[in-house]
Parts: sequence; C-alpha cells; structure tokens
Amino acid sequence: MKGVILAGGLATRLRPLTLVTNKHLLPIYNKPMVYYPLEAMVRAGVKEVLLTSAPDHAGHFANLLNAGEEFGLHLYYAVQKDPKGGIAQAIELAEKFADHEPILVILGDNIFNFDLKASIKRFEASGKGAMVFGVHLDTKSRQYGVIEIDKNGMVLSIEEKPEHPKSDIAQIGVYIYDGRVFEYIRKLKPSERGELEVTDLNNLYLKDGRLMCDIIDWWIDAGTSFDELLRANTEVARFVKEGKL
Ligand code: G1P
Repeated sequence: MKGVILAGGLATRLRPLTLVTNKHLLPIYNKPMVYYPLEAMVRAGVKEVLLTSAPDHAGHFANLLNAGEEFGLHLYYAVQKDPKGGIAQAIELAEKFADHEPILVILGDNIFNFDLKASIKRFEASGKGAMVFGVHLDTKSRQYGVIEIDKNGMVLSIEEKPEHPKSDIAQIGVYIYDGRVFEYIRKLKPSERGELEVTDLNNLYLKDGRLMCDIIDWWIDAGTSFDELLRANTEVARFVKEGKL
C-alpha cells in the first residue's frame, strides 16, 4: 500500500493565518499539522508517500520534510496547479506514483489515532475496491459528507454536506482505494462548487458494490475553522500527555 497526503487548497476559512503560509504547516500543539497524517502513514506501515501541494508552497514542505528520512519513509512531491480542482483531482496526480497499487489517502489537516493497520488488513482480505471511514458527530453543520449505514455496517448512501443528513456519521478525510481509482476519477464531472468530489468517487464504488466502511472514535479536521484548529491543539496536547497519540 502506498500513501498520498493532500496538502493543497486555499484555506480561505483560516485567513489571515494562511495568507503567507500553507494551512498544513500551522502548529498543532508541538508539531506542524502535516506531521500528524505523516505519522499516521508510519503507524499504518506505509513506506512510500506522495505529498501534493500548491506551487507556492511545495518548496516549504520540501524544506521541512526533505525526503522523509526523519519519518523512516520515502517522501515524494507533486504540484497541484489548480487548488480549486477538488480532492479527487488531487488524487489523480498520484496515478504514476501508485503504479496500479492500492493507495491510502489522508487529507493533510486530518488528525486521528485509530488503528489504520487493522482497517488495511480488513480491506485487503475483503476483495472490495475502496474503504471510507466515519465518525459520530453533529452532521447538521453541513461541513462534512454524511455516511448512512445499515445494522451490519454496510454503506447505504453517502451525501456531500446534505441539508437533511440521513445519519450522524461524518465521512472523514481518510480513504483507501484499489488500483482502479484513476479509472473511476476519469468518470467524474465537477460538482456545483466546481470540484471533482471525493464523495462522488466513493459513490461510484458504492454503486458497483465495492465500498466498505469502518467507524472510528476520535478525529478532528483541524482545517475547518478557527474553533476546530483550537480544539485540535487542546485535544492533541491532552492526548500526547496521556500517551494516546
Ligand atoms: C471533504 C469531503 C467531505 C469530508 C471532509 C472531511 O470536505 O468532501 O466529504 O467530510 O472533507 O474533512 P471539504 O473539506 O473539501 O469541504
């Protein structure tokens, strides 16, 4: 399994913090934000990671992370010219890097401590094509994709920021895809907000009966708002002190 970390975007919701730097380089307690998804890759046993970012900031990541030696992995970089293209378009940059292998995709502002290794094992044993992860929270805020599952944990639907959420399970920014993901991405059309949506991509797998889902306990999208950024700092500080992260 190879890894892809998406660290592009404009981060307009966090201005002026992000006027001259990239959101994923902002501090979360004692480390830059991007360290957390990178460390999650390490915990998952992934050895090669591609980090995608915008042209203005790619050099900042290279200065900070070099070739990934500090983390014990090989780090590669890709530049996403159009920051408004959406998550699925950023994933497409990884096609050559993935070279038909499955990929673990993590959004660069997502912080979590669940055992991805166990999920990867379950995915590999299942013969399915993609895996999404959900967490219970207030989905009425219209900030997240919403996953509806049945009592056996099978996905029934995923909707992007719906007005009337069908469940309280938010789709987090961690995804596993098989080698066919690029074939599926090429079928996508831009959404109303002009992006190639990761939710549309996941729905293609769902339609083909090839999607699975794990529910996790704790997760923060540190990039959604000043309040979530603050919460990430305080909760991560507590978790680090308690040895949970
Ligand atoms: C994206 C996804 C959304 C998901 C969220 C998690 O939203 O489209 O389904 O719940 O990441 O952080 P965005 O941050 O692009 O608005």
